[in-house]
Amino acid sequence: MSTEPNAHAIAESEPETPAGPGAFAETERLCAGLYGRPVVELTGVEKTYYKPDGSVMVQALRGVDLTIREGEYVAIMGASGSGKSTLMNMLGCLDRPSAGIYLLDGKNARDMDDESLSKFRGEKIGFVFQAFNLIPQLTVEENVEVPLFYQSKPAKERKSRSEKSLGLVGLGDRLDHRPRELSGGQQQRVAIARALVTDPVILMADEPTGNLDSKTGASILKLFEQLHAKGMTIIMVTHDDDIAEHCERIVRLRDGLVESDAMTALGRSRAEPNG
Ligand SMILES: Nc1ncnc2c1ncn2[C@@H]1O[C@H](COP(=O)(O)OP(=O)(O)OP(=O)(O)O)[C@@H](O)[C@H]1O
Ligand SMILES: [Mg+2]
Repeated sequence: MSTEPNAHAIAESEPETPAGPGAFAETERLCAGLYGRPVVELTGVEKTYYKPDGSVMVQALRGVDLTIREGEYVAIMGASGSGKSTLMNMLGCLDRPSAGIYLLDGKNARDMDDESLSKFRGEKIGFVFQAFNLIPQLTVEENVEVPLFYQSKPAKERKSRSEKSLGLVGLGDRLDHRPRELSGGQQQRVAIARALVTDPVILMADEPTGNLDSKTGASILKLFEQLHAKGMTIIMVTHDDDIAEHCERIVRLRDGLVESDAMTALGRSRAEPNG
């Protein structure tokens, strides 16, 4: 038998307490000065996945405290399995915390039933997935209309808003195409147009450039930067340090906890232009 400690034992020997409120006070201070009202406030948020027999399978989030303000551009980073997608699903109200409190734009997700939560989510959040998730049978223009359809908007309004949103991402000339007739980068642009068509408060993206080559990925990042410059709040998961440096703040997860939360060079230069 090997005497090497296994990975689990190593993990257990490391400090495992949540950082707690105030642990990243400097970042909080800079953000409070730079950005608007808190749109995302997590306090002690946990997410536990259970086995069918009721025993704990995985504690994917173990006490996350995080505030994100209107107008921020934040990267969520961390190793595979650290809880990034779980956190994004929580932020996007696709899932609910097992414990702790989540305020989305000041409202407690726990106080809403599934129907009102999904309506609230539709109004507040645009979500972009790594795998685009477009509907192949629909045209580009119809794909972008889908969230408005769920909001029972009239057909005329759906169409005009869809066209406007596609114009914003530079696809005004591709309205009648099907997704398969587009490049990967164009498909991701359609997905972004779909996320923006409802005028959300926050744009959330889980590895939006993960399935794209670096040049196409760069064009998506450029689009995000333009949206951010117009005041859109953007939260993006990425594995890529270079991509994260385009954001103004990086939140790193480790084993379901916030390991670090710091401004990037870009964020610091905005906060302290003369510093
Ligand atoms: N539906 C689920 N049921 C059980 N465990 C899950 C489920 N979804 C995720 N997990 C577990 O929760 C932990 C966090 O997963 P998550 O998908 O959030 O990681 P991630 O940081 O997004 O990783 P990646 O970079 O690979 O996408 C992992 O250990 C994963 O196996
Ligand atoms: Mg993930």
